[in-house]
Amino acid sequence: MDPLLQLVSLLQLVSLQKASGCWELNASLAAVFGKTESEVANHRPAQVDGSVWATVLALIWLYACRSDDQVEWQFVAMKAASWIRSQKPEGLSQCVSDGNVLLGGQVTEGMLGI
Ligand SMILES: *[C@@H]1O[C@H](CO)[C@@H](O)[C@H](O)[C@H]1NC(C)=O
Repeated sequence: MDPLLQLVSLLQLVSLQKASGCWELNASLAAVFGKTESEVANHRPAQVDGSVWATVLALIWLYACRSDDQVEWQFVAMKAASWIRSQKPEGLSQCVSDGNVLLGGQVTEGMLGI
């Protein structure tokens, strides 16, 4: 992908993060992943709510697709991981593996710090 487009999508993701550290599952976020909102929503594992799913996906996308720019997003990711841990969600492993399938990543819960 064009480096400028990569930067724009990273900035877009960062701008969509809420103050609490999570993301909302909506069309803007799905567009960062190159997907439609329904495509992303339809793959959501049953145990987790939309924000947990959206936030896990955002983390997977950063680690899988933007690993070269980690310096730029490490604080964004730290805040997101801390929000996820605070939610104590059920079925997080399933969520990470479903997220890897959707985004074509191979990241582990340990890598994401969740
Ligand atoms: C998606 O959610 C973010 C964060 O709440 C918000 O800034 C953005 O405008 C929303 N996009 C749409 C299409 O609703």
